[in-house]
Amino acid sequence: MLNEHIPIYRNLIQIPTSALRIGMYVAQLDRPWLETPFTLEGLLIRNQNDIKKIKKYASTVYISVDESSTNIVHSSASLPYTKKRVDTKTNKGLPYEPSSNPIPIRKEIQEIGKEHADAKGMIKNLMSDSQNWHNNLPRAKEVVKSFAQSIIRNQNALYWLTRIKNKNEYTAEHCLNVGILAMLFAKHLGWEMKNIEEVGLAGMLHDVGKMSIPAEILDKPERLSDAEFDIIKNHVLEGYKILSRDKTLPETVLRTSRDHHERINGAGYPYGKKGDDISDEAKLIAIVDTYDAITSERVYSPAQPPTEALRIIYEESGELFDKFLAVKFIECIGIYPPGSAVQLDTGETAIVVEQNPKRKLLPKVFILPSSGKQHLCNGTLLDLSQQKHHGNRKINRALSEPQNPDDIEEIFNFLKADECQT
Ligand SMILES: [Fe+2]
Repeated sequence: MLNEHIPIYRNLIQIPTSALRIGMYVAQLDRPWLETPFTLEGLLIRNQNDIKKIKKYASTVYISVDESSTNIVHSSASLPYTKKRVDTKTNKGLPYEPSSNPIPIRKEIQEIGKEHADAKGMIKNLMSDSQNWHNNLPRAKEVVKSFAQSIIRNQNALYWLTRIKNKNEYTAEHCLNVGILAMLFAKHLGWEMKNIEEVGLAGMLHDVGKMSIPAEILDKPERLSDAEFDIIKNHVLEGYKILSRDKTLPETVLRTSRDHHERINGAGYPYGKKGDDISDEAKLIAIVDTYDAITSERVYSPAQPPTEALRIIYEESGELFDKFLAVKFIECIGIYPPGSAVQLDTGETAIVVEQNPKRKLLPKVFILPSSGKQHLCNGTLLDLSQQKHHGNRKINRALSEPQNPDDIEEIFNFLKADECQT
């Protein structure tokens, strides 16, 4: 196995090298250690010179909280790690520990695919009937329970499904995706199952107030007037009002619908709440809502790749988004999320099929055939973490140009169908 002598560090945080500080232990770079002059695969930052050297060879690194000086980690304002926050909702105060043996992604996609398709229909119904929307609630609660189980079996399947987008169904898909991403993120944070399901339901229902906005404003491609923007902004209070009519919903779900456009610096709406006046759930939904919106094609803007969405979220962290949660979300999605295109050191283009939770830099990839997509059967599935020798294929870089959503869907369907397996 490649680099098998490297210790598997628990409790890794992915940060840009600009956030490096003395005392941090760099466990992994965004490129193989072999391509750098560092002789050891891991480095305790002892001085500014170490930081300079790391910056020369990497733009993003994983630091090990366990191996770093905890005083420095906890006191550094630029490193948004606050263990206490994690502790509030964990089972044992431990951060996320990935399952070492998830079921195969192909099997999990088959398992959860139909439920996902049904869920989209359910959300469409729910969002189109302001009188009887609550009739869909029992089903919505069932869906979050099924999704929670799927995430435990293999979280890559539902993430893939959030990447398959139909621009004509933006509202329903967005609500569903925000629910799924919120659950993936909450699991990554180590939240208890009850909280994971609750934040998933909050995500699915966060924009329920948009039912009251006329379509000509909601879908207007041109710039909105101030009056129209006020109508859009009112969806949060309208959502709270609508959801309050149902007495079975947890208060968290209601409050998240009202507060998901509040921002850490007070620049949000409806109340301009700041910092910890905003609940953890609303801060979390604010991030995943933004991530899904940026990576989706909307009437007024094209879809951007995940890396661009993560860059924007990171840039706005500490101002619009909670800094700790923004960094944890980047760690959750990873540098190479499923569905993203990468270039290997051989020059080949590959699509990331499945993340390896313990070796995020060595995902399972599908190497596209050089002859084009019409010959997908000539492609190769390869688990980069399972190669036998050093010097085998490695990821050189993520391809940052926007990907055609149809390409992603085609490759996803190909992988799902298992057409060319021998
Ligand atoms: Fe919203």
